[in-house]
Amino acid sequence: MTIVNTAKIGDVTVGRIGHGLMMMTWRDPTHPLPDEDAFEAIKAGVDAMPEGVKMFLNSGEFYGPDASTANLELLSRFYAKYPEYAEKTFLSVKGGTKAHSIIPDGSPDNLRRSVDTINEKLGGIKKMDLFECARVPGNASIEEVIKTLAGLKDEGKFTHIGMSECSASTLRRGHSVHPIAVVEIEVSLWSYEEETKKVIATAKELGVAVAAYSPLGRGFLTGTIKSPKDLPAGDMRHRFTRFQEDVFNHNMALVEEVKSIAEKKGITPGQLALAWVASRGDHVIPIPGSSHKKRNLENIAAGDVELTPAELEEVDAILAKTPIKGGRYNDALDPKILHLWG
Ligand SMILES: NC(=O)c1ccc[n+]([C@@H]2O[C@H](COP(=O)([O-])OP(=O)(O)OC[C@H]3O[C@@H](n4cnc5c(N)ncnc54)[C@H](OP(=O)(O)O)[C@@H]3O)[C@@H](O)[C@H]2O)c1
Repeated sequence: MTIVNTAKIGDVTVGRIGHGLMMMTWRDPTHPLPDEDAFEAIKAGVDAMPEGVKMFLNSGEFYGPDASTANLELLSRFYAKYPEYAEKTFLSVKGGTKAHSIIPDGSPDNLRRSVDTINEKLGGIKKMDLFECARVPGNASIEEVIKTLAGLKDEGKFTHIGMSECSASTLRRGHSVHPIAVVEIEVSLWSYEEETKKVIATAKELGVAVAAYSPLGRGFLTGTIKSPKDLPAGDMRHRFTRFQEDVFNHNMALVEEVKSIAEKKGITPGQLALAWVASRGDHVIPIPGSSHKKRNLENIAAGDVELTPAELEEVDAILAKTPIKGGRYNDALDPKILHLWG
């Protein structure tokens, strides 16, 4: 299988759909994913790219049990075994949180610590292509943070700067200090807020690519999870409002509705969800996460699916008549703790 459609991150050509690696290691620690399964899933996506096109891989300093560096260690083993894949991948890594934690810290010392930890854990065969703070830190202005990152970039520690979970106005401020290559925000059929639209529009204007995270609604939009009870006991999704039984059942109406469009088109509901995210603009790159080769191939094949204007109108009509219950994370928590739209 070769994927035809591509997207741009500055001068770099990447596949239209990327691959998020978070759940490979940030999962129930009693059921770790065997390396061979992870490697097969990653390789399958990369191998589907045409000559000269890189696969966008998305990782994090804290994507592991207890916010450990397990994801980076997995990547280190991957690149050690398959060094030829270093050149074929565009690796984006989130950090900028305190060590072994998800608490943002934009101080120059911590940003240097984070970047150095990431490069060290990656093991030297592959250096990250892009670094971004996972959340907009509250203890330094965005101008100071991006200035610090520009200095680290000039030292050769990475080649591109990204931003994550930021508002449109913060993106504009960050970009005024140093060009931002990618902004990473949640975009999906059930996460399409006014601020989502503003960030996508601002990114387009500024020439910034959008890495659309959780484009499958953390698996919900594929229709394969029938009940939150299907998820393993330690699965982090149990903490999210949309994975509480009553809210989950309410929102299932959306999946049922879009399923019929997917069936008519001969694609899966997950592929429809990804094609819809990709249809938000040429600069929007969905980054679905899957630990399985077969599912990753299904996901990236959605990069070649074009939705017609009539199909997009049909989806719009469904979204209008099927309001989603529950916020994107945990409604019981203070939004300030979650650092959303920083
Ligand atoms: N910047 C941020 O704050 C932030 C936050 C969250 C995520 N992210 C990034 O975005 C990436 C993707 O997000 P996500 O993992 O939260 O959500 P997602 O991509 O919307 O959904 C992933 C879930 O869907 C399942 N899945 C994937 N493909 C499938 C298919 N074809 N059929 C059925 N099920 C399928 C996966 O299970 P299997 O693994 O078992 O296939 C996994 O449980 C992450 O890996 C991470 O890199 C960033």
